[in-house]
Amino acid sequence: MERLKIAVQISGRGSNLQALIDACAEPRYPAEIALVISNIAGAQGLERATKASIQTRVIEHRDYYSRRAFDSEMTREITAAGAELICLAGFMRMLSDEFVDHWRDRLINIHPSLLPAFKGLDVQAAAIEAGVRFSGCTVHFVRREMDTGPIINQSAVPIHDDDTADTLAARILVQEHRIYPHAVRLIAEGRVTIEGERVMIDGAEAPAEALINPTPV
Ligand code: GAR
Repeated sequence: MERLKIAVQISGRGSNLQALIDACAEPRYPAEIALVISNIAGAQGLERATKASIQTRVIEHRDYYSRRAFDSEMTREITAAGAELICLAGFMRMLSDEFVDHWRDRLINIHPSLLPAFKGLDVQAAAIEAGVRFSGCTVHFVRREMDTGPIINQSAVPIHDDDTADTLAARILVQEHRIYPHAVRLIAEGRVTIEGERVMIDGAEAPAEALINPTPV
């Protein structure tokens, strides 16, 4: 089986990277991680990669005179590793338009809200503050505008009355670890196409039931 080579870009903890590492450890999973790049030296995710014998690179933005130069170095490394898809996994740095355009439709991100609601940072607190009854997470192709682009999959979780940003983030994170490996699988299996700015997934089924919060009695 030919496996899709992916590069994962991180800045920190790397729990989504770990979910991808674990998925790739399955013999029948159709992707493999060729390279992990961190823009932060000492990021916890780097240890996870090393433990799994995955090649790592630290590319620190402050070593580069411009965002473009920093991004070009990442593209060089990713290309050299033979990666065909980039997964941003808690990569907390804006990417240049050149980078995003170069990797168009080959660059995906996970974000801890139901996009297009709650873009940016501290989105779990923002969702609680807004009083929405559900939040969740989204895997999407990356476009120039932050947290935009064709949506591949989403998971919705309920918000509870006593939630804090941390308890909600933890509930969402469990779902992130499920949907990110699934999105990569769908792409690697060649089942994902982008029509306009909408993603179509060959053979995918939507849930039959609506979710309602609070549950009607
Ligand atoms: C995750 O919750 C991810 O969705 C979020 O950062 C966290 C990284 O955790 N990403 C963003 O907010 C990007 N806009 P991890 O390092 O444990 O995967």
